[in-house]
Amino acid sequence: MEHEDLIAKAMEAREKAHAPYSQFAVGAALLAKSGRVYTGCNVENASYGLSICAERTAVFKAVSEGERDFEAIAVVTEKGVTPCGACRQVLLEFGDDIQVIVANGAGEYRIFGLQELLPEAFNSKDLE
Ligand code: THU
Repeated sequence: MEHEDLIAKAMEAREKAHAPYSQFAVGAALLAKSGRVYTGCNVENASYGLSICAERTAVFKAVSEGERDFEAIAVVTEKGVTPCGACRQVLLEFGDDIQVIVANGAGEYRIFGLQELLPEAFNSKDLE
């Protein structure tokens, strides 16, 4: 799948964001190695700390459907910001080679590796 296609799905998901408190809408589209795409948006709550990011919504949807292997995730915000630390850690759980495609509202994008976004990360190997 082309980067642009995954970004388009993340943009669509972004329209579903429930962000009445921050007004900061985020959309994500996670491409599994199966070829399926799982989308997510941020879902905020009046009890602010219960809010969840778009990226983790997408990961949890995918994993709960039986997916474990992922190629890439596209994340769209107005300015094209990189995922928060919590989402980086959750993505890393499923592989340090997932491509992170960060796009802005105009569709311009940058590509990062997870290792680059989360160097010296704690992972399952540290539990051995
Ligand atoms: N947010 C995301 O959905 N993904 C990120 O990587 C950064 C932050 C959401 C959480 C909250 O709903 C809003 O953006 C402002 O922090």
